[in-house]
Amino acid sequence: MESQAQDSVRRLIVLSGIRPTGPLHLGNHLGAVRDWVDLTNRGEYDCYFFLANLHMLTTRSAALHTEGKKSGVDPKELYDDQVGLVLDLMAAGIDPNKALIYAQSTIPELTELMWLLATFTPVSRLEGMHHFKEKKGKLEEEGVGANAALLTYPVLMAADILGVQADIIPVGEDQNAHVEYARDMARAFNREYGDLFPVPDVWQTKALRVPSIDCSGKMGKSHPEGSVFYTDSEKVIRQKFSRAVKATANPPRTQSDWRNDPGDPATCNVFSFFDLVGSSEDKSWAEAGCRGATISCGECKARVAVLVNEIMAPIRERRLSLETDIGRAQAVEILHEGGKKARGRVQEIVTRAKEMVGIPAF
Ligand code: ADP
Ligand code: TRP
Repeated sequence: MESQAQDSVRRLIVLSGIRPTGPLHLGNHLGAVRDWVDLTNRGEYDCYFFLANLHMLTTRSAALHTEGKKSGVDPKELYDDQVGLVLDLMAAGIDPNKALIYAQSTIPELTELMWLLATFTPVSRLEGMHHFKEKKGKLEEEGVGANAALLTYPVLMAADILGVQADIIPVGEDQNAHVEYARDMARAFNREYGDLFPVPDVWQTKALRVPSIDCSGKMGKSHPEGSVFYTDSEKVIRQKFSRAVKATANPPRTQSDWRNDPGDPATCNVFSFFDLVGSSEDKSWAEAGCRGATISCGECKARVAVLVNEIMAPIRERRLSLETDIGRAQAVEILHEGGKKARGRVQEIVTRAKEMVGIPAF
């Protein structure tokens, strides 16, 4: 690990964030949150997990505001999503007694650090980021423009990371470019002013991208029909897989005469789920059955739904039992306590950074 500024006795710091845009889904779970639980339970690291609520605001559209319309981000809904996200993280298995859970907005010093890092960042680097181009393109398709905060999204993300001197960043592979940028920021600062920031590493047990069930890109909160959420019942999971007409092989196998219509698993979205949630026996069963036309697409989808449900059932049960007034009040308290502790650390580090740059609070 390349950590120039690391104090040899301190425990390594794990940090990751997630935007409160709605309930967590299988993609978040397999791509990131499962690793968060695992890293926390090892007991070797100081773990920081936060709600990236400032990042959440970046997809608000600038154009709507100039036209005098509302942005579509409802404050009440956003509040509920944040409380719900804490409950989701606990349901996934993150114990707030072992990891800090907090909200980005509790720590104003992060935006100060973001400003310092922005001064090291060429605008062209931000304009070239894949995430920015993709989100900007989507907003433009909707006839509205990207706001300035969307452009500076990676700078705030680097501040989140460097602000606690984090070492290990468990994220899905779509976030790799952002962590690479944070690494460059750590190096740039250290080169200019002396060692302060460890150069963080991405953590992925397995780099994976969970597809949307209905072939509409990656599984994501913005596409409920193609996603399996923590609270989805067994029946809903089954229905989502069975209804996904396009999710079977391309071209789809005949439904009525499937025994005479062998398929090609390599072109099937449902088959790709066996790699994510199945054993090698499950995968061989589906591959042979599809190629040999001994199973129908319906049987294959039903098997995937069972495997997905096996992962989701314990999470769903915990999530439903947390969904009470007491659970919600407890979530707010967890954010409050986690925020106080995380803020203390960020304040120390940002104060140091400002002094090193020569702009202390006089
Ligand atoms: P969403 O796209 O649903 O809004 P986020 O962007 O908030 O989710 O992502 C939170 C974490 O979950 C990130 O680390 C991201 O890489 C991971 N993640 C999200 N969707 C997927 C997916 N479909 N497959 C793998 N990882 C994912
Ligand atoms: N950009 C991340 C996502 O969309 C969320 C995030 C914000 C994050 N700040 C971070 C992740 C710092 C890891 C570290 O998923």
